[in-house]
Amino acid sequence: MMLMMMTTYTSVVNVVVLVLLCLQCVSVASLEFQVGGPKGWVVPPSNDTNIYNNWASHNRFQLGDTLRFRYKKDSVMEVGLEDYKQCNSTHPTFFSNIGNTEFKFRHPGTFYFISGATGHCKKGQKMAIRVMVPDDHDHDKSHGYHLAASPFAGVPGITMILLFLHFVLDYVAFASYM
Ligand SMILES: *[C@@H]1O[C@H](CO)[C@@H](O)[C@H](O)[C@H]1NC(C)=O
Ligand SMILES: *[C@@H]1O[C@H](CO)[C@@H](O)[C@H](O)[C@H]1NC(C)=O
Repeated sequence: MMLMMMTTYTSVVNVVVLVLLCLQCVSVASLEFQVGGPKGWVVPPSNDTNIYNNWASHNRFQLGDTLRFRYKKDSVMEVGLEDYKQCNSTHPTFFSNIGNTEFKFRHPGTFYFISGATGHCKKGQKMAIRVMVPDDHDHDKSHGYHLAASPFAGVPGITMILLFLHFVLDYVAFASYM
């Protein structure tokens, strides 16, 4: 009897641990990327004007992910393709100059960002980002800002919980025969 109670107790602890793991794997699904890495959102050096698109090409962006722009005396705008090409900052669809801007991808597609500061976009402070619908299999390859890879990524949390409950119930049934 004592043994059975202990077994049940262990099982309950296991379930709690697994539920917590699953909550974690669900929250890992979206990532935050710091644009340009530690340097942030600045005018690129004149010998390396494509830094932002190079940076973007090393990452995979998905619906629900967030960009963080850090800058001083500058701004960030989301614009259309033509305005991106011509560095036209007269009618952005998004504008921020608070120095620490968060931008969340709310739909898939290509997003175009430019600096709103005079001359900066022409010097290469611009970036095009393609955002895909979630595909958890490849998401772990991204160089996310606080990426935590999970062995359960891609398995819906509820499936994991059901699978584990099934396992625990089998185990309890087996243990009570002992
Ligand atoms: C750009 O110039 C700097 C210093 O002049 C150098 O350290 C850096 O490697 C150069 N970058 C590229 C991409 O050529
Ligand atoms: C920017 O776009 C607006 C509206 O499309 C246009 O009137 C203006 O001439 C453009 N400015 C530049 C510098 O291309």
